[in-house]
Amino acid sequence: MVPNGRLPGAPGTGAIIAPIVSTVAERTRVLTGFRPTGPLHVGHWAGNVGNAVRLQNEGYECFYFVADWHMLTTHYDRVDELPAFVEGLVLDLLAAGIDPERSVLYRQSQLPQVAELALLLGMITPLGWLERVPTYKERLRDMAERDVANFGLLGYPLLQTVDIVIVHGEVVPVGEDQVSHLELSREIVRRFNRLYGEVLVEPQPLLSETPLIPGSDGRKMSKSLDNTIELSADPDTIRARVRSFVTDPKKIRRGDPGRPEICPIFALHGTFSPDDVARVEATCRTGELGCVDCKSLLADHLIERFEGFRERRAELGRTPGLAKDVLAAGIERVRPIATQTLEAVRAAMRFEG
Ligand code: TRP
Repeated sequence: MVPNGRLPGAPGTGAIIAPIVSTVAERTRVLTGFRPTGPLHVGHWAGNVGNAVRLQNEGYECFYFVADWHMLTTHYDRVDELPAFVEGLVLDLLAAGIDPERSVLYRQSQLPQVAELALLLGMITPLGWLERVPTYKERLRDMAERDVANFGLLGYPLLQTVDIVIVHGEVVPVGEDQVSHLELSREIVRRFNRLYGEVLVEPQPLLSETPLIPGSDGRKMSKSLDNTIELSADPDTIRARVRSFVTDPKKIRRGDPGRPEICPIFALHGTFSPDDVARVEATCRTGELGCVDCKSLLADHLIERFEGFRERRAELGRTPGLAKDVLAAGIERVRPIATQTLEAVRAAMRFEG
């Protein structure tokens, strides 16, 4: 590595050159998973989908997968929907820009090595670590009307850890709510490596620049809260969805001053209207901008931003068997890596021969 990226012996002014050992040259390994619980929405895009596409395009070695076992943690009673959700998710990811040649795109349940490694790592994962993960308590609370207090839900971040370490994922693009999961992953890895030897790699979360995207009710945008705007929504649906958003309750009519910092529409402008956000903020505060116009402006931006997505998604839906074929090719590429990791773990834990 050249110190400071400067070529030794270069003239005093020293042209800055790219460091010889760049992370991209080493092909840092990126991994993230998507639960097949319904169509991708703008919260996914701002969370990890946008970053997943960007990292692929920047030349990282990317592994992306459909986390269908994770779907069972909350939707075990809705497996009839699973096949359509899996297919829809794969097509959504392709339409969003995931290229199955450059990235390995596969389905978790087709990699049974994950299940064996989850069993083994479960033996060294203290219950207390799992119980204190905030998303566990949140899910129990948000889904109080459904019976989700199962072992699987508690083990969610352990299974997620296995997804990552089985391919030695180093960088994991996630939304902010997943940071505690990654922290747990790192603790499990450290515990494993201390007990049995340095086999597993500690992953790092990669947060998107956008904070959590709120949905129409002001809570986190999420399919289960029915407050989303789907990436494939047609323009009329996008307009209707945006109109249904709550705004500052004290701003009742145009002329009333608004508080952008508490308004979900403003949060979306921050992500999707970069050129207008300063003007929106100023004119909302003075009251000059009314919520109706403010929403209409956001809808225009969303419609334009996802027009390409909509077209590609419709096109991809016309090729029968596409999602299955992509997943079949992806599993072949990830299987040897997962097998090798599992063999190293078995050996380290003395399950040889
Ligand atoms: N928990 C992630 C989510 O809800 C999905 C997921 C499953 C995941 N396994 C993963 C993300 C491994 C990153 C790495 O978005």
